[in-house]
Amino acid sequence: MKLAVLVGSLRKGSFNAALARALPALTPAGLGFETLPSVGLLPLYDADIQAAGFPEPVAALGRAIKAADGIVIVMPEYNYSVPGGLKNAIDWVSRLPDKPFAGKPVLIQTASISLLGGARAQYHLRQILVFLDAAVMNLPEVMVAQAQNKFDAASGELKDGPTRELIAKQLQSFAAFVRKTQAGAAVQA
Ligand code: FNR
Repeated sequence: MKLAVLVGSLRKGSFNAALARALPALTPAGLGFETLPSVGLLPLYDADIQAAGFPEPVAALGRAIKAADGIVIVMPEYNYSVPGGLKNAIDWVSRLPDKPFAGKPVLIQTASISLLGGARAQYHLRQILVFLDAAVMNLPEVMVAQAQNKFDAASGELKDGPTRELIAKQLQSFAAFVRKTQAGAAVQA
């Protein structure tokens, strides 16, 4: 099973990028990870650009999402919502004719410096993914609150034991969710 990770922060020292890097070590056997290209490579969505042809970074992102068994979106919360760069990437991909997110199993994780850990942005992202007809897993949820205390300042390693355990449990559930979603799609086909 191959999962692709989409990171919603562009900054070098991002807690969310560090969270994405922690995933392979917390994953059940047989699960592979690839990191999708940065959402910062995409131009701002513009229907006139689309009319002239999808830019290659958009097409490449769509192909990678289509090819993956499941997508893990790891993002911060900006002003109680989804960061603009990630929303822009989702808007672009939503216009691709082969609808890469349709029926695709999606897992959401957030890390933020606040006490709520990005909870509000998670529910906005769920709403956005309804129209893309993605299959978003409900539980367990991972919201890494007070991220500044959960990662090693020097190495960026996720050092918080309970958070590591919760993520391992969530990834195990997601592997089962991907299998169940794929089996359901095969029956319908
Ligand atoms: C934030 N931050 C933030 N945090 C939060 O929990 N809720 C929020 O609504 C916001 N809003 C917000 C807006 C903007 C524009 C920025 C730049 C930041 C703080 C945020 O959690 C913090 O900067 C994280 O470190 C961002 O994630 P990365 O870049 O470390 O992955």
